[in-house]
Amino acid sequence: MVLTFVSGTRSLLLTYERSYSYTMRCVLLAQLFEPMVLGGQTLPNRFVLPPLTRSRAQADGVPTPLMAEYYRQRAGAGLVISEGTVVSPQGSAYPQVPGLYTEAQVEAWRPVVAAARSKGAAVYAQLWHVGRQAHSSVQPDGRPPVGPSPIAIAGWEYRTPDGPVPFEVPRALSEADIAGIIAQFVTAARNAVAAGFDGVELHAANGYLFDQFFNSSSNQRTDRYGGSIENRLRFLYEVIEAVSAFVPVNRIGVRISPSSNWMDVSDPDKRSLYSALVRGVSDRRLAYLHLVEPGIAGAVDAETDPTAIESTELGALFDGPVIVTGGHTPETAAAAVGSGSADLVGFGRLFIANPDLPRRVLHEAELSGLREEGLYAGGPIGYTDYPELQSSN
Ligand code: PHB
Repeated sequence: MVLTFVSGTRSLLLTYERSYSYTMRCVLLAQLFEPMVLGGQTLPNRFVLPPLTRSRAQADGVPTPLMAEYYRQRAGAGLVISEGTVVSPQGSAYPQVPGLYTEAQVEAWRPVVAAARSKGAAVYAQLWHVGRQAHSSVQPDGRPPVGPSPIAIAGWEYRTPDGPVPFEVPRALSEADIAGIIAQFVTAARNAVAAGFDGVELHAANGYLFDQFFNSSSNQRTDRYGGSIENRLRFLYEVIEAVSAFVPVNRIGVRISPSSNWMDVSDPDKRSLYSALVRGVSDRRLAYLHLVEPGIAGAVDAETDPTAIESTELGALFDGPVIVTGGHTPETAAAAVGSGSADLVGFGRLFIANPDLPRRVLHEAELSGLREEGLYAGGPIGYTDYPELQSSN
């Protein structure tokens, strides 16, 4: 009798506990489905498709119908950010990356952008110049790539179709060259608007051109683009200023990776560097600050360094929407949104493998894992062949 009573109570308690944790989980995840306003647009949820290089454009950087299908499948995000899209042939390191510098590219982006917004997402183009991460084998006229200073990337190799080769010493940009690149960003931003994008994100992360200017390991200039932190940030600020003539500042986002040394960008005082940057872009009232989480280096997981700068620390310096991307689960994302430390969360690998990720999270459906095959380049396999939930679910 007593035993029956005890075990009955225990099972009741267990049931209660399970339903309590289930309810709490639902309450937590509900944070991801709160609409929010970004750049004057209402986003239906807090999920971001972050920029992901998938290399399915034509060799001339013209987007393909297959890309439209890929973005249509992932249109359930609140914010869709395009894969890195180069502002010029010089800004490109790899074949089959899309561009926004020819009329044919603009035309071919239109149906891709329309597909990406088919479920109410805001759609931003990520504008990209790789600087010294390119290679003469893919540069116009076969010349070496460009960078702030003639310092090659050490410790990493450039991937050619025939295997890895050392990075080359870049040609240092003159002030006139820098003005030319700023003009390329302006043209690409105007083209993005013409193609239907709602805004643009400047790719200032992962050791690409902006990041090469920020960090002293790659920027040893003695002119107004090097030396002090303000000088190293000048190129970014000038691009923002120039682009804002055609895209309102509240439709321009900036993406940075403050804790990553990926591709040999280092600085003795990253905390002062990126804190100054975040304050500077905050003053400019941009659409958002997009932070790559410390556990990520480029496209892969990294050991978290104890000196890493937490996203919460930098996000607190930014007066506006903050996006965090890298290694999040729906639960950690909801906790970040719930605590106010982030407004939006990017899911790269989860969105590749689960095209209808928000819907799956809403229905507590199982999430698929990522396959290596087709991550970069190729056709539909590993790109548009990840299944969506059946509508009965
Ligand atoms: C990549 O192609 O692996 C890649 C591209 C852009 C990034 C990071 C990684 O920002």
